[in-house]
Amino acid sequence: MIRHDDRRPASGHIRQLRPSDLPKFREHLLRLDATSRHDRFNGGLGDGFVAAYAGRCFANGATVVGYIEGDDVLGAAEIHECAAETSPTGEIAFSVEPALQGRGIGALLFERLLAHARAMGYARLRVTTHPGNARMKKLAQRFDARLTFRAGETVGTIELEPLPRIGARQTQPWWPLRALRRAGRASRKNARVQAGPLLPALHGEATPAHR
Ligand SMILES: CC(C)(COP(=O)(O)OP(=O)(O)OC[C@H]1O[C@@H](n2cnc3c(N)ncnc32)[C@H](O)[C@@H]1OP(=O)(O)O)[C@@H](O)C(=O)NCCC(=O)NCCS
Repeated sequence: MIRHDDRRPASGHIRQLRPSDLPKFREHLLRLDATSRHDRFNGGLGDGFVAAYAGRCFANGATVVGYIEGDDVLGAAEIHECAAETSPTGEIAFSVEPALQGRGIGALLFERLLAHARAMGYARLRVTTHPGNARMKKLAQRFDARLTFRAGETVGTIELEPLPRIGARQTQPWWPLRALRRAGRASRKNARVQAGPLLPALHGEATPAHR
């Protein structure tokens, strides 16, 4: 049972969700309160839509990374391929359960999602939210998103560096995205301050799953 008024420190880990994690992912999305659900989906949507959406994510091959405590998915970050674009483009989205928001988990999910996106060869990522979603806008800016405003929406665009060619001399880590490193430093600082025991669990799994 998850208590939304529980201000316990975050103590989980982040990993890519497996197909069998679908029920836990669906439960996570259904637990978002009205405000978070509105912020996540840019509108007030019913349980039926949210449950079907979770199923579509898995059925359509989205990459979903989860923040997990015990048996529960309490946060998630998704990449959905925009197949119609000429260069590999992904639409990304984030959700952290209300009781855990503002503790740096969104930044850690963002950091991990960037590593997955780059490993999958995406050239560009887009994140869309409504202009009043200050937390999401701040998060996107921290990861070097260029924000534009159109038709009542804020769209953040992140350009990813191409993967190094095999044989190219590696003077940097394999994921040398400047923003990723900078954000990593910042989120580790955040994790120390805000997430307590989250840090060892995350650092134990610091290598992206696609490596
Ligand atoms: C948006 C969301 C994923 C962010 O996750 P989070 O764990 O709360 O984010 P973090 O704690 O990492 O904080 C993100 C940034 O917002 C800032 N922030 C925290 N509370 C804030 C507030 N009330 N107003 C403005 N900014 C705030 C943090 O300082 C941080 O900025 P920094 O990196 O420059 O320090 C989460 O709040 C959420 O799930 N919201 C509902 C769904 C949603 O809006 N999804 C995004 C649309 S796809």
